[in-house]
Amino acid sequence: MESKPAVRLARRPQEGQDAELVACLVRQDEAGAAIVPPSPMAAIIERAQALGDFAGKEGQTLLHYPEAPSPERPWPRLLAVGLGKGPVGRETLRQAGGSVAVEAGKTRASRIMVLVPEDLPLPLADAVEALSEGLILGAYQFRRYKAESADDPPGQLATVWLAAPPGRGLAGACRRGGQAARAACLARDMGNEPANVWTPARFAALAQELAGRHGLPVSVLEQADLECLGMGGLLAVGGGSGRPPCLVTLEYRTGRQVPTVLLVGKGLTFDSGGLCLKNPQGMDEMKYDMCGGAAVLALLRAVAAERPRHLDVVAMVAAAENLPGPQAMRPGDVLRLFGGKCVEVANTDAEGRLILADALAYGIDRFAPAAVVDVATLTGAVVVGLGHHRTGLFANDDRLASRLLAAGERSGEPLWRLPLGPEYTKQLKSEVADLRNIGGKDGGSITAAAFLGEFVGKTPWAHLDIAGTAWGYTEKPYVKKGASGVGVRTLLELIRGW
Ligand code: BES
Ligand code: MN
Ligand code: ZN
Repeated sequence: MESKPAVRLARRPQEGQDAELVACLVRQDEAGAAIVPPSPMAAIIERAQALGDFAGKEGQTLLHYPEAPSPERPWPRLLAVGLGKGPVGRETLRQAGGSVAVEAGKTRASRIMVLVPEDLPLPLADAVEALSEGLILGAYQFRRYKAESADDPPGQLATVWLAAPPGRGLAGACRRGGQAARAACLARDMGNEPANVWTPARFAALAQELAGRHGLPVSVLEQADLECLGMGGLLAVGGGSGRPPCLVTLEYRTGRQVPTVLLVGKGLTFDSGGLCLKNPQGMDEMKYDMCGGAAVLALLRAVAAERPRHLDVVAMVAAAENLPGPQAMRPGDVLRLFGGKCVEVANTDAEGRLILADALAYGIDRFAPAAVVDVATLTGAVVVGLGHHRTGLFANDDRLASRLLAAGERSGEPLWRLPLGPEYTKQLKSEVADLRNIGGKDGGSITAAAFLGEFVGKTPWAHLDIAGTAWGYTEKPYVKKGASGVGVRTLLELIRGW
């Protein structure tokens, strides 16, 4: 799985001289006119503006092929991207980076240079970080199953030089942005793989590969182990599939006396609904039901590369495939989950909470974390409630909730907190067991979250329902069709700022 382009800071003027495209970023004044930056493109922007074709509106682009490149200006393509009127923040620049990558990707340029404006109203390091993130996310493509066609060769950026004014900490900022974006791209790669390729075993294999590369403790609990531990949820959900379920744990350890943050992801590699089979319309999208698992594993790769000293981080993926089959769970079945609670299965399509409950209870028992966050494509109801623009946030702890809200804001992955409470938990009452796995048709996302809340005890816990944002996510230049990689950058931000 590739990780292009490389984004580097240009430190000397000759770096970037051989760029095949130069991009500059253009703000607008109050009146909506382009503030033309001193750049190789100044005269062209003036002309385009005079003709009414370009004003530096957010997302507006202008591509130009100069007639006579000179030794001082050897660049064959010039691109201007608008930043708009509003205050320029991290998200503006992330999106501008995405626009540069998208426009440059329509050309054959593979080495490009981006001129970072002088007078931005945010720290230069933040600007560099956001641009680097947006460029890499915007250049993302998933083309594993498409032959290169002669008439439509996709542009593929190899190198981006960021030409920034001098400043402190810019190299680190560039690296941080790249790290976050590449982790999100790894999560996208997993999500975009079809379910016949990305199976529970692939989660295990990737965790083992990352463990080997970074020297991390890893464990894969297979079916027999799950039986010994009494993980009746994961076993029942995976029972209908010939591809057995597993629980994958990858740890980042500082070796110091620091708190542990546990991250649990729903790695449902395909959700047919089981015996309560889903409608075929859109069922293909249920290959994305593993995006929470993808997010926590990809996140752990970024953490392992950054090596923070202040936190231990554990990523856990509950991996299974929900299919009807001779060993499939049935409606009416009662399952004993890890820790002993019994659950009546009223609907086999409410499977995510069953595997997460096992993983949460087990993870908390094993690691005694200071906080636990789960990430899951858990309910269609959250899409009804929040659409595709925000992830649903639930938490039993206000401090953790506000940390996540802030991290989501900073990373451009907005969250919206929804309530929990005994009135919702009551909807999960069962006649025959401790709990039922559905809570009726009303408040579906909340009752799903409330179900999970029954398995975390007093540990500070938050749940991110990414069913609306894991794919088909809000339109932005740096978000592509297919898996969005949502959650990765929010969690990385959470850990960096802990
Ligand atoms: N994976 C789905 C949730 C989902 C639905 C994600 C649509 C993305 C888009 C989950 O396992 C599921 O099927 N949930 C059911 C729960 C219901 C049976 C209580 C749902 O949301 O319909
Ligand atoms: Mn389901
Ligand atoms: Zn599901």
